[in-house]
Amino acid sequence: MSPLHVTRTLPEDATDAALRADVRDGLTADPKTLPPKWFYDARGSDLFERITELPEYYPTRAEREILLARAGEIAAASGARTLIELGSGSSEKTRHLIDALTSLAAYVPVDVSESALTQAGRALIAERPGLEVHALIADFTAPLALPRTPGPRLVAFLGGTIGNLLPAERAEFLALVRSQLAPGDGLLLGTDLVKDEGVLVRAYDDAAGVTAAFNKNVLAVVNRELGADFEPDAFDHVARWDPEREWIEMRLRARIAQTVKVPALDLAVDFAAGEELRTEVSAKFRRDGIAAELAAAGLELTHWWTDAEDRFALSLSVLR
Ligand code: SAH
Ligand code: AVI
Repeated sequence: MSPLHVTRTLPEDATDAALRADVRDGLTADPKTLPPKWFYDARGSDLFERITELPEYYPTRAEREILLARAGEIAAASGARTLIELGSGSSEKTRHLIDALTSLAAYVPVDVSESALTQAGRALIAERPGLEVHALIADFTAPLALPRTPGPRLVAFLGGTIGNLLPAERAEFLALVRSQLAPGDGLLLGTDLVKDEGVLVRAYDDAAGVTAAFNKNVLAVVNRELGADFEPDAFDHVARWDPEREWIEMRLRARIAQTVKVPALDLAVDFAAGEELRTEVSAKFRRDGIAAELAAAGLELTHWWTDAEDRFALSLSVLR
């Protein structure tokens, strides 16, 4: 069995500095925001896995359905020898793709969550003894220090996580991905599609309250890392559809007026009763829109697959 290679491209103090900057900028902005990448400590990653099993949260099931039906076509179109997965989490759905990629030599999962990466990486090398697994603890919005592995490369970005980037961040991200591809390499992109508002809101405000716990977990991360005194129960989980921007916004709404101290930043943040802190956007897409965003980054959408109910899409762009 090959060993699991784990590389941390971000030193611990870089993560710390990035969290400090994001929390300072976000909590002093009007309206207040926090970026979603800070949800994913070990507890946040576990909560996300529970979300994927909720009856209301259809994206994971819909994407798995497409992968199961189309893995052979994706493999034939990409011929990948290295699979790089951005925001890989548990790599659970990716197994279908790995099984279909018969010439695959290396799998490079990239995630900020060390716990998710090591759990998934260990399971994969045990299940597929011939596969080289190089796990990268890294932020996928920055250039990646990729290991030397054979091409062609397929970059997979599944789950609809691209929707958690704001439009300008998406454009920058796609251009960065494009700059790291060579002819013959490809991008496999999972995008959740625009649909009925009720279905969307229920997916982000489930009856069991798992998404609410996931949302509030970002406050626990800021408390632990920066010594803040957020009281998670003093906030309500809010999920709202924005029909103009075609995205879901998750927010935390202060139940009462309160002041939160963040000692590591020497900051005291006032919340008015009812004031909302935006913690995530989750954009939903249409085929024309995503094709145009890919084209703007120099990527041509060559394949488009959806599930039977047209809820979710996988698109493939192979570089000529
Ligand atoms: N791809 C999996 C997991 C999606 S959850 C699926 O489809 O189920 C989103 C994942 O992206 C989490 O594991 C989270 O830790 C990771 N993530 C979020 N922002 C990131 C960033 N900026 N850089 C690297 N990983 C990130
Ligand atoms: C990871 N990402 C695609 C999820 C989403 O649906 O936007 C994160 C999530 N937020 C709430 N539920 C799931």
